[in-house]
Amino acid sequence: MVRVLFVCLGNICRSPMAEAVFQKMVDDAGLSDQIVVDSAGTGSWHVGEKAHRGTRRILSQHGIAYDGRARQVRPQDMDPKSYIIAMDASNLNDLQRQYGNHPHLHRLLDFASQTNVQDVPDPYYTDNFEYVYRLVNDGCRGLLATIREREGL
Ligand code: 4NP
Repeated sequence: MVRVLFVCLGNICRSPMAEAVFQKMVDDAGLSDQIVVDSAGTGSWHVGEKAHRGTRRILSQHGIAYDGRARQVRPQDMDPKSYIIAMDASNLNDLQRQYGNHPHLHRLLDFASQTNVQDVPDPYYTDNFEYVYRLVNDGCRGLLATIREREGL
C-alpha cells in the first residue's frame, strides 16, 4: 500500500483540494486499493473544520466529492515509506524543522509540467481558488505518474 499525504498550513484550502483531486485521479486509474490519500495541516487553528467554502465550491464545480475535516500532521504520518507532499516551501521547512529529513518529502509543484511556479499560493489570502485548482491539478497529474513509475503501479 502506497500512502500519500498532502500538507499545507491550515488543512482547509490547498491540501484538502489536492487530496480530493488526487483521490479522483487514483479512483479513475483504478488504483484505490493500492494508494491511500490523506491531507493534514502543520497548524492546529482549523482542526475539525470542513474545507474552506472556496475549496468546496471549486471541487463541486469540477464534479469532485470531498467531505474531509481538518486535522494536524502527526508523527506517525511521517513514515519513511509515505509520500509527504507540501504545498509550499514554508510547509516543507516547517515539516523538516519538526520531523527532520524525510526520503519522500517534496513540494507538489516539483511534479508539475509548468516550471515557473514552485509554491501553491494560499487562496486563504488571495481568494484565487480557480488558479490554485489549476496548479493542484497539474502537480497531482505529475505526482501520480511518478508514483506509478516508482512503485510499478
Ligand atoms: P491552507 O490555507 O494552508 O491552504 O489551508 C490557510 C488556512 C488558514 C490559515 C492559513 C492558511 N490561517 O492562518 O488560519
